[in-house]
Amino acid sequence: MSRVARMISGTGRKAIMTGIVIVGTQWGDEGKGKATDQLGESVDYVVRYSGGNNAGHTVVVAGQTYALHLLPSGILNPGCVPVIGNGVVVDLGVLFEEIDQLMARGVRADRVLISANAHVIAPYHRVLDRVTERFLGKRKLGTTGRGVGPAYADKVNRIGIRVQDLFDESILRQKVAACLEQKNALLVKVYNRPAISATEVADELLQYVDRLRPMMTDTSVVLNDALDQGKVVLFEGAQAHHLDVDFGTYPYVTSSSPIAAGACIGSGVGPTRIDRVVGIAKAYTTRVGEGPFPGELLDEAGEKLRQDGGEFGTTTGRPRRCGWFDALVVNQAARINALTDVFLTKLDVLTGWDKIPIVVGYQVNGNRLTAMPMTQTELHHAQPIYEYMDGWTEDITTKRSFSDLPATTQAYVLRLQELIGVRISGIGVGPGREQTIMIHDLL
Ligand code: GDP
Ligand code: IMO
Ligand code: MG
Repeated sequence: MSRVARMISGTGRKAIMTGIVIVGTQWGDEGKGKATDQLGESVDYVVRYSGGNNAGHTVVVAGQTYALHLLPSGILNPGCVPVIGNGVVVDLGVLFEEIDQLMARGVRADRVLISANAHVIAPYHRVLDRVTERFLGKRKLGTTGRGVGPAYADKVNRIGIRVQDLFDESILRQKVAACLEQKNALLVKVYNRPAISATEVADELLQYVDRLRPMMTDTSVVLNDALDQGKVVLFEGAQAHHLDVDFGTYPYVTSSSPIAAGACIGSGVGPTRIDRVVGIAKAYTTRVGEGPFPGELLDEAGEKLRQDGGEFGTTTGRPRRCGWFDALVVNQAARINALTDVFLTKLDVLTGWDKIPIVVGYQVNGNRLTAMPMTQTELHHAQPIYEYMDGWTEDITTKRSFSDLPATTQAYVLRLQELIGVRISGIGVGPGREQTIMIHDLL
């Protein structure tokens, strides 16, 4: 038996695992929400550690579809405590709308805990997000327009508003006024837009104080205590490795650190408490918004993947750009996130192809690369090099074990595992919670 076949057929290490990170390995929308929810039953806490309501996580439970933007996907498991960590930027209007919608469907969503240090997305962040995109014209990033980038910019610029600021009205009013002094000058003089009233912004934020009071806490204390007691804490990444502000395809990235290391910064839990890092990889590749995507298919094959996979954004409804699985993309994520496991999603979407290509290299200025290039210029010039695997026609959505999959499907999964260099521990064969093949226990 080859080393790779052993990795997939073995029973895996059985030890007490308590700190687990779930991270996207491509450009988002890999199915992180489903993977988090799937593990949720055995998890005590689920923490969002970065991003804001730019995320869209669709989870299907008992035929019911839930689209979550800000709340951790663990909210759908009644035994699990959902936590919004300090690394998240919170649009309070969106938060309470999401909570109310879930409550109306019978989910006790008001049990969420929110870090006092989380930053707030204020109305002027949303305005600036849209105005700057318009101003950039052809150079726009294709953001979700939710104000996420401007909110993080204020955080780093030390003029942000934190959840705790809402509990000191006088401080809040001073901070909003100081921040708007600068922003209004920009809006009026550069962008030719009306000024925003500091009083109105502060009043809007203050209306959430009563509902926030029971939720706000020092989530770092809560999570470290939980880990001390041997509870299982799952850190649910939003966005993905290649949207990371440091390691993604900068500047076509989001403004936070979705990578696994971001789980520590965004929740106040130290790196030695993380036992596993599970990378979520779609069986093909998608991307929303602008930016380089060497394997992008602009032909009917791309359109077929989009239709078969339902590749339309959960947050903005935009059609997702599609391509075949890119081993270089996931391989870099495996290295930088020190993945211990991969969860391969949407394998069922590939049913029906005669041959399934895999990107195994890039041609860049006459050179063949087998790892992502160092510079943006090289990535923009990269042409994909493919190898071809045999496809399958049999419906796999009802399969629940690896050995039940058609031989060519197994061969495809084993080849991906070999290219990524990390064991594949779970496979998604449909959107439902139960449509999963587990190969190695993650807990
Ligand atoms: P996330 O942002 O990473 O949580 O992913 P999204 O929810 O934005 O996009 C993933 C989509 O694929 C959702 O509509 C999921 O319901 C769906 N999905 C997840 N896993 C699978 C799978 O294994 N097969 C199929 N067909 N759909 C899946
Ligand atoms: P989930 O968690 C896919 C992309 C946007 C844009 C870039 C910057 O569902 O995987 P932003 O609004 O963050 O400033 O936009 O990042 N983007 C996502 N793409 N899935 C996401 O989240 C995304 N969150 C942001 O499309 O290209
Ligand atoms: Mg998504």
